[in-house]
Amino acid sequence: MNVLLIGGGGREHALAWKISASPRLGKLHAIPGSDAIAGLAVCPPIEQSDSGAILAYALENKIDLAVIGPEEPLARGLGDELASAGIKVFGPSRKGAMLEASKQFAKEFMARHGLPTAGFQVLYEAGYARQRIKENRKYPLVIKADGLAAGKGVRICADEGEALRAVEDLMEKRMFGYSGSKLVMEEHLTGREASVMALVDGNSYLMLPVSRDHKRLRDGNEGPNTGGMGAVAPVRLEDNVLETVRTEVLDRFIAGIKKDGIPFRGVIYAGIMLTPSGPKVLEFNVRLGDPETQCLLPLLDGDILELLSACAEGRLAGKKAGASGACASVVLSARGYPDAPEKGREISGLDDLPEGALVFHSGTRKADGKFVTCGGRVLAVSCRAATPEEAREKVYAAVKKIRFDGMHFRTDIGL
Ligand code: AMP
Ligand code: GLY
Repeated sequence: MNVLLIGGGGREHALAWKISASPRLGKLHAIPGSDAIAGLAVCPPIEQSDSGAILAYALENKIDLAVIGPEEPLARGLGDELASAGIKVFGPSRKGAMLEASKQFAKEFMARHGLPTAGFQVLYEAGYARQRIKENRKYPLVIKADGLAAGKGVRICADEGEALRAVEDLMEKRMFGYSGSKLVMEEHLTGREASVMALVDGNSYLMLPVSRDHKRLRDGNEGPNTGGMGAVAPVRLEDNVLETVRTEVLDRFIAGIKKDGIPFRGVIYAGIMLTPSGPKVLEFNVRLGDPETQCLLPLLDGDILELLSACAEGRLAGKKAGASGACASVVLSARGYPDAPEKGREISGLDDLPEGALVFHSGTRKADGKFVTCGGRVLAVSCRAATPEEAREKVYAAVKKIRFDGMHFRTDIGL
């Protein structure tokens, strides 16, 4: 089976690593890939944004399965374009990707199909938004840009002043461009968070081990929100909570996409808040999480291509995702992340890691044969072990071996 992987971050490096271990693999290609992924896949000089060139390349290279990692090409409809040319695609249709690309679409989908989520209103215009905020009595209040904003379009507002500022920044100053043309105003929920990911083939789903991301930059959940500073899996949910997630979130999700006629073969990722009144969906992503993937894939025992192709072909029913042990992943970020990360620092220690330590590259490139930093999140180090405690110990022993100028990481992943 020839596989084309779209994307070039840490999630895709982990996917390339896991796919490479499959006995079904013919040749692996990645667009754009990265210098690290190039150790596992052919990376032609094609931009991720160039759908036409991607399609031509896929046809020329007899691609059997396309695996689309990031949200942006999904939201653009790359999956639909490849699928109409007869290529099997792991990744939802453009309409399915709206569940991530528009918070209004996602909230209305949840309301229509009875998925538990925070109460909300859509704000279409700044004057109206201000009026609704002035009428609001309960703080904190959550205000979100409707569209994609790389995880930065959510404001937890402590008072009216902050809420009004969110309207100004997101809707009037267009901090995230067109994404702020509508806002969603939402009830504030409290509780611990969990990342629930399931493979979906349009009719059935296969739940992956539950994981937990650590979004804030610094220990103790301090500092700004980031794309994710580390992850652990599995996160054990109580039986009744797990049951609610299955029946009220995933079963209703499947019923909803069928009723609405949304073609969906890929991953649904529900960001869940475990509130005192039960689990509620904070948001949907339509792809694997980053860094959750770097933590989940090492846990899976089976052949990933078997699962991905079953999903792309609508034959997921009855499949199992065998997983054992626990895994912890720690992200190493560059000085200045998330605002203005430094680049070009040489990375040392990658050849001297303890046995079993895995390193996935998010933001690196090769210069004179050596890896240097080239992004905010630079690497994720993952270790699998029998227990979460052992995984934590192993991963921090591995992290100690790696160095680059300005390297930062959280020391409390998994605590
Ligand atoms: P999102 O980009 O939608 O994943 O939101 C980023 C983060 O904002 C989430 O992981 C939560 O920590 C927080 N968040 C989003 N919606 C709410 C809400 N309704 N109540 C409390 N926190 C929220
Ligand atoms: N780790 C959060 C995300 O992938 O959106």
